[in-house]
Amino acid sequence: MQVVILKDAAEVAAYGADIFTTQLKRKANSVLGLATGSTPVALYQELIKRNQANEISFAEVTSFNLDEYLGLDGSHPQSYRYFMQQQLFDHINIDKSHTHVPPGDAKNPITACGEYEARIKSAGGIDVQLLGIGRNGHIGFNEPSSGLTSRTRVKTLTKATIDDNARFFKADEYQPHLSITMGIGTILDAKKVVLLATGENKAEAVVAMVEGPLTAACPASALQMHRDAVIVIDEAAASKL
Ligand code: GLP
Repeated sequence: MQVVILKDAAEVAAYGADIFTTQLKRKANSVLGLATGSTPVALYQELIKRNQANEISFAEVTSFNLDEYLGLDGSHPQSYRYFMQQQLFDHINIDKSHTHVPPGDAKNPITACGEYEARIKSAGGIDVQLLGIGRNGHIGFNEPSSGLTSRTRVKTLTKATIDDNARFFKADEYQPHLSITMGIGTILDAKKVVLLATGENKAEAVVAMVEGPLTAACPASALQMHRDAVIVIDEAAASKL
């Protein structure tokens, strides 16, 4: 696990964007694992800029998102599919049919999880997986107690995560308590993993991930076992290391 500590969120985004730029220049048909949440937004803005300046191309890229709320279809403004369209896909030259987000509206979510795994496999596996981290150490929606070898499956969200993400929902809006998420084992299969964390409110989770024991109580600690995991954080998120 390599830990890169930078001054602020802008530097973290630029560093993350450089990793993706290098990857796309090396392999135009890369398979990218993408994430939602507020942390990757600045990185996506940087990638959009570089794509529009013709520095990088997504024309041959395939993408797989980590997770989705169960019960929301992709046109729902709170769905992660919608988020990805707004924050990235609608602004770059990616072929929408090559972008994958777990289907929140699946009639049979359990079958859909197996199909998602199969699709990642048939694409050749993920080259670079982007991650954020929850304040409780979750990655994707792998909440504390998730199996360290888990695969894509339906997961119940913890109260802490529901409360943390409530800021994205209006007061009277339905907020799902279930998700489909890649498993920790699925994430560990990516050839490279890049986790971004910024701000003091992530400092506890960061110290547990980097210096704590390998434990299901902190799902992100599983990255200690990955051969090429880069943790890119700002000084505030690093303040408890
Ligand atoms: C959600 C997502 C995670 C993300 C986390 C942190 O729960 N499922 O993938 O890492 O939020 O989000 P933020 O970056 O907004 O702190």
